[in-house]
Amino acid sequence: MLKDFELREFNPYIDSKDDSLQLEGVSLKALAEEFGTPLYVYSASFIRDRIRAYREAFPNALVCYAVKANFNPEIIKIAHSEGAGADIVSGGELYAALKAGVPTDKIVYAGVGKTIKELEEAISREILMFNVESRMELEILNDIAGRLGKKARVAIRVNPDVDPKTHPYISTGMKKSKFGIDISRAVDEYIYASKFPNLEIVGIHCHIGSQLLDISPYREAVEKVANLYQRLVKEGFEIRYLDIGGGLGIKYKPEDVEPTPYELSELLAPVLSGIDAQLILEPGRSVSGNAGILITQVQFLKDKGIKHFIIVDAGMNDLVRPAIYDAYHHVVPVESKGRNHIIADVVGPVCETGDFLAKDRRLENLDRGDYLAVLSAGAYGFAMSSHYNVRPRAAEVVVENGEYRLIRKREDYDYILMA
Ligand SMILES: Cc1ncc(COP(=O)(O)O)c(C=O)c1O
Repeated sequence: MLKDFELREFNPYIDSKDDSLQLEGVSLKALAEEFGTPLYVYSASFIRDRIRAYREAFPNALVCYAVKANFNPEIIKIAHSEGAGADIVSGGELYAALKAGVPTDKIVYAGVGKTIKELEEAISREILMFNVESRMELEILNDIAGRLGKKARVAIRVNPDVDPKTHPYISTGMKKSKFGIDISRAVDEYIYASKFPNLEIVGIHCHIGSQLLDISPYREAVEKVANLYQRLVKEGFEIRYLDIGGGLGIKYKPEDVEPTPYELSELLAPVLSGIDAQLILEPGRSVSGNAGILITQVQFLKDKGIKHFIIVDAGMNDLVRPAIYDAYHHVVPVESKGRNHIIADVVGPVCETGDFLAKDRRLENLDRGDYLAVLSAGAYGFAMSSHYNVRPRAAEVVVENGEYRLIRKREDYDYILMA
């Protein structure tokens, strides 16, 4: 029996019909048969609900969906149709956001290594704000803006030195990380920045990390940022935007309890009460993460005596999170046939021991050709995929209210090997 009621805690649009999983009423097996596997399937309604939840919890804020989580323009378009702007970190993400129709006055741009070409593109487009990460970036941004006859709006990304208590690779707000500038030096940096004629200093930015299930570090960080805001106002700065980044965690394991945008808003309300600036939020994972399911097909089964392996056609090139963060993704059969259970590792075809999707899982004893659904795959899934082993990247499909459409076709070998 598929326990679809448990799966609905990940995404309320999952259910089952005749013991076969559906997303928004569309059969995952039918999608796998039509489009092949590995296949990413995203629920549009889930994304809509999440943007609405953020906008309801923070009615005066600008919600900029973090494009890095899932850059498919159709996904950005869904978020944008609910009022979201875009948080970008590259020229490519700017291009994707514009392609999705996001207006430039709803685009904020972070990242430690923006190139001259990327800065030129974003300045020419007059995006809402550059979240500047270093003194040298301020200088270069000022030069380019001057050359283009523009003024660039700037927030300085400050590093509040708060431990978000998440995986070290996705902690960004600690002193030793490459991101932002040390908050204790921030006032001096703002004064330095204010001397540049082609920069308009309009905001403060921080982002402490990703996948925060315990949201208390947010409060600590935003208290420090609010304190900086008051000091800057005293220095005569007109801070119009307070950008507090993304980071809300999501349910990956059945026992995980997700914080909601409303809880975040309640937590931050006392800290933000004296602040006369527009709040900007940059959620990524919490918008698209549990919207997405990766469907993969069983290729071979292997019993090595001490261990069972289920070898599937999705590898670390399709979903790298387990390999690089040892991340847990819940894996369930697309169809339950009421068989016995075994304990097995679900592994991909890539030639790396780190190529696994799930370890030591209790799963129905599957057959070759069966499909598995890898949950919580809508953020940092396709977006982090690669061509390793000359493997074409997966196709992507969106489902909504019983309908579906292909939003990215599967790649072929010529595309990968293009000269
Ligand atoms: C600057 C910035 N904003 C927003 C995000 C999105 O974070 P999340 O997907 O955890 O919401 C990130 C993620 O790394 C980031 O670096």
